[in-house]
Amino acid sequence: MLRVAVAGVGWWGRTIVGFLRKSAKLRPLMLVDPNREAAAPFAAEAGLPLVDNLDAALASKEVQGIVLCTPHTLHCSQIVAAARAGKHVFCEKPLAMSRGEVVRAIAAVEENKVALGVGHERRFDTPVLELEKLVAAGSLGTLMHIEANLSQDKFLALPADNWRLSSREAPAGPLTATGIHMLDMAVHFLGAAERVHATVRQLGSALANGDTLAMLLAFRSGASASITGILATPFVGRFAVYGSHGWAELLDKEHPETPQGWIMNVRLRGEKMQTREFPPAPTVLANLEAFADAALGRAPYPITHEDMRATICALEAVVRSCASGAIERVEN
Ligand SMILES: NC(=O)c1ccc[n+]([C@@H]2O[C@H](COP(=O)([O-])OP(=O)(O)OC[C@H]3O[C@@H](n4cnc5c(N)ncnc54)[C@H](O)[C@@H]3O)[C@@H](O)[C@H]2O)c1
Repeated sequence: MLRVAVAGVGWWGRTIVGFLRKSAKLRPLMLVDPNREAAAPFAAEAGLPLVDNLDAALASKEVQGIVLCTPHTLHCSQIVAAARAGKHVFCEKPLAMSRGEVVRAIAAVEENKVALGVGHERRFDTPVLELEKLVAAGSLGTLMHIEANLSQDKFLALPADNWRLSSREAPAGPLTATGIHMLDMAVHFLGAAERVHATVRQLGSALANGDTLAMLLAFRSGASASITGILATPFVGRFAVYGSHGWAELLDKEHPETPQGWIMNVRLRGEKMQTREFPPAPTVLANLEAFADAALGRAPYPITHEDMRATICALEAVVRSCASGAIERVEN
């Protein structure tokens, strides 16, 4: 059992505490949030002590790991602080805001020999695990292109001054909210990206930071990906991989906060399209439990430091491309 402190008692911190309560592998010990007034009722209801800064959790001998559900620009410094205190650290996405930050964060966990997890739960979707098997068996042939779209309209309810809508915390509009998950998946299947052309616009909402993001990426392997994230349309999650022998398409029925299962369509050359239904599974918890297994030395964490770094390097290039309007090289 890994004993953790959850930092950031907002939407996602509360969601994660809900999942952790069902876990036999992690136990929440305390909550951290400087906004005591907002966090205290939840802490009382969860029966967990609340402290108002991370140092108090890092000083506790009982706490073995930190789960960060905090604003994006805090992630790198909080990972470094946790690692230096000898705590394993699970950080929500994006792991960092730039290549420099992700390099610093990974160096800190490696130097201090602690585990690092990241909130890319899509990797734990049951059909994604099936897709990994298809790809590893060579059933799809050479991977040539990925088409992905992760969109939702939850932010339409946020006040205009919420940090998640600011260009500092959320450059390139939907990138840090949804696009980053699909970037991570593309890196997982295609490796490091080399060049990016991206555009973000405000088209269908009052989200002044932009609600419609489109990215076209070229990978070192020669493969490409077109990825969309929209914050002004109802939830959609679609991830499709095209190979020289066949293609696979994964459709999410709901946001991972309330899993409803998936549909997987596969078509191999010369065969009819096969459709499979997958029942709901708590992938957010599966990711946290994989982190706990890594922290306790039971199994390696499936998302490598190399992939974590490649995803953030791609993120940095997407932000540059949205600002410049030009094709930007990914500095890996
Ligand atoms: N993996 C997913 O699917 C998923 C879904 C939603 C959100 N997230 C991520 O979760 C994180 C939090 O997002 P959210 O929507 O819950 O935001 P939120 O605004 O609802 O919550 C953030 C909380 O962090 C607190 N906070 C601010 N500074 C802090 C500090 N120094 N130490 C501790 N707490 C601090 C705030 O008071 C607030 O309660 C983000 O990284 C976001 O991208 C991930």
